[in-house]
Amino acid sequence: MSNREVLLSIKGLRKYFAVGSGRMLRAVNGIDLDIYRGETLSLVGESGSGKSTLGKAIMGVYPPTEGSIHYAGQPFLVKRKQDRLAFSRRAQMIFQDPYASLNPRKTVAAIIGEGMDIHGLFRGRERLERICELLELVGLRREMASRYPHEFSGGQRQRIGIARALSLGPEFIVSDEPISALDVSIQAQIVNLLKSLQRELSLTHLFIAHDLNMVRYISDRVAVMYLGSIVELADSGDIYAEPLHPYTQGLLSAVPVMNPDNIRPAGQEYLKGEIPSPASDIPGCAFCSRCSRAMPVCETARPQPVEAAPGHTVACHLYAN
Ligand SMILES: Nc1ncnc2c1ncn2[C@@H]1O[C@H](COP(=O)(O)OP(=O)(O)OP(=O)(O)O)[C@@H](O)[C@H]1O
Ligand SMILES: [Mg+2]
Repeated sequence: MSNREVLLSIKGLRKYFAVGSGRMLRAVNGIDLDIYRGETLSLVGESGSGKSTLGKAIMGVYPPTEGSIHYAGQPFLVKRKQDRLAFSRRAQMIFQDPYASLNPRKTVAAIIGEGMDIHGLFRGRERLERICELLELVGLRREMASRYPHEFSGGQRQRIGIARALSLGPEFIVSDEPISALDVSIQAQIVNLLKSLQRELSLTHLFIAHDLNMVRYISDRVAVMYLGSIVELADSGDIYAEPLHPYTQGLLSAVPVMNPDNIRPAGQEYLKGEIPSPASDIPGCAFCSRCSRAMPVCETARPQPVEAAPGHTVACHLYAN
């Protein structure tokens, strides 16, 4: 991957939230990550691990507490309104709940056309034609443009959300659990749509999800996040064939055996207990309290990421040099 262009480069990123009495909740707690142009990188981890916060920091919704983000080689500035507006043409977000994220009082055409209006990109007949093209691109019909969100099913509403995200022709998409709120029977359809759009439009895609089954079919690489840090990052095939971090092994053992080739993790590790509060101050490895292979060093020193195999990094004292 090293010869590929880095679209997004994140260094030492932290995002803390103040939670009263001077305490800080470390939602994102020191992340280094490069995202390559044209890849689908999935971000997985339990609830509260900081996936959405990282996604929002990347999109400029939250200014980082510390660290830097470079986008296409340029420092990423979100402070000024015009920078935000310019960035919104290049990068867009797809949300978890397609009902909550669509204004119920607007027609589908108004929802999808909003970004074009803000940027003054298309007008009149051309604007309507562009909206109809987007509807067809996401598998809906052009006559649906005049309808309202409540007239659609959950899966169709998520397609509208995707059309809206694509309306300005972005190169980068962050989708935050875009299938979690959907009926299981239509989750695969939406994943397949995202996958084919990514190819067709050469998008770079950061896909945030819980479900390791779905992630497998869409990702080039998978990053596993735990309590604000990335604990393992590898090509999708390697994560499933040879998960290294005890947390990844635990997440994989929790995946129902639905996959056709019935791949089970190499080392069986079951997740016990619950993710600690990100407001607690953990000096060592954040996973230590739940890890069956914890050693004394894990309680005192935070493990740094090491490249255990080419392109496969893991932050765990078991693999320290
Ligand atoms: N705006 C906020 N203010 C205060 N705390 C926040 C805020 N947003 C998130 N948090 C906290 O940061 C931590 C990480 O939250 P985040 O939503 O990023 O996790 P997540 O991995 O996306 O979880 P989920 O899978 O449930 O969506 C949580 O403890 C959460 O309560
Ligand atoms: Mg989230």
